[in-house]
Amino acid sequence: MGEMLRLEGLTVSYGPVSAVRGLDLTIGAGELVALLGPNGAGKSSTIGAITGLVPAGGRVFLDGADISPLPTEARIGRGIAVSPEGRHVFVNLSVAENLRLGAATRRDPAGVRGDIERYLAMFPVLAERMEQPAGTLSGGEQQMLAIARAMMSKPRLLLLDEPSLGLAPMIVARIFDLIGRLKEAGVTVLLVEQNAAQAMRFADRVYVLAAGQVSFSGTPAELSSSDLMALYLRS
Ligand SMILES: Nc1ncnc2c1ncn2[C@@H]1O[C@H](COP(=O)(O)OP(=O)(O)O)[C@@H](O)[C@H]1O
Ligand SMILES: [Mg+2]
Repeated sequence: MGEMLRLEGLTVSYGPVSAVRGLDLTIGAGELVALLGPNGAGKSSTIGAITGLVPAGGRVFLDGADISPLPTEARIGRGIAVSPEGRHVFVNLSVAENLRLGAATRRDPAGVRGDIERYLAMFPVLAERMEQPAGTLSGGEQQMLAIARAMMSKPRLLLLDEPSLGLAPMIVARIFDLIGRLKEAGVTVLLVEQNAAQAMRFADRVYVLAAGQVSFSGTPAELSSSDLMALYLRS
């Protein structure tokens, strides 16, 4: 399995606040890697550093190429997409418009139409609401839209920042099932979560961040049997 993403000595600071302190992390092509850790651990900062939206030190490699000097648009052009924390769908635009915006960088209209059909089949709840403003969707539906919108750019690497945040347990289970199906369809996923139990059901490997540093990396089974489970994670 080839390596898709490599973070080497990643650092993020906000003035005096050191949010990420020398993070090393790899994701193989086709892997689903979970990045767990409590509030404030540096998970969103890590995602921001990967997309280039947050200034960072260290290096980000995609397919072996150092993309750290590239602006966000260029990184997206290379196949990175993000579903941000808090979802951030365009509430005044319709579901259909949100999906089309996800494909704004694509130049294959037939392919875009095909992918809209594909994701509506995967997220049927959106199909019934295509012309509704996204702001009228429930939290779970907005999360599905945020993920489907990210998928519309045809990413090879999908970054999901706390997709279960604030959702009812039943909806959370559905969101995770969808993430599992995206992985089965061949997408490489970095899943940032505080819901460790759910994320560990789907992850191939797990990193636990604490205060900007890796405090554990290994398989979900290894994490389950480590005492970190009780220390850092709510399940
Ligand atoms: N824009 C910002 N300005 C200042 N401090 C920030 C900013 N964003 C995040 N932080 C701080 O950086 C640390 C890591 O935050 P974050 O990456 O959002 O963690 P997580 O996503 O794991 O909850 C926290 O201490 C947070 O308060
Ligand atoms: Mg966060």
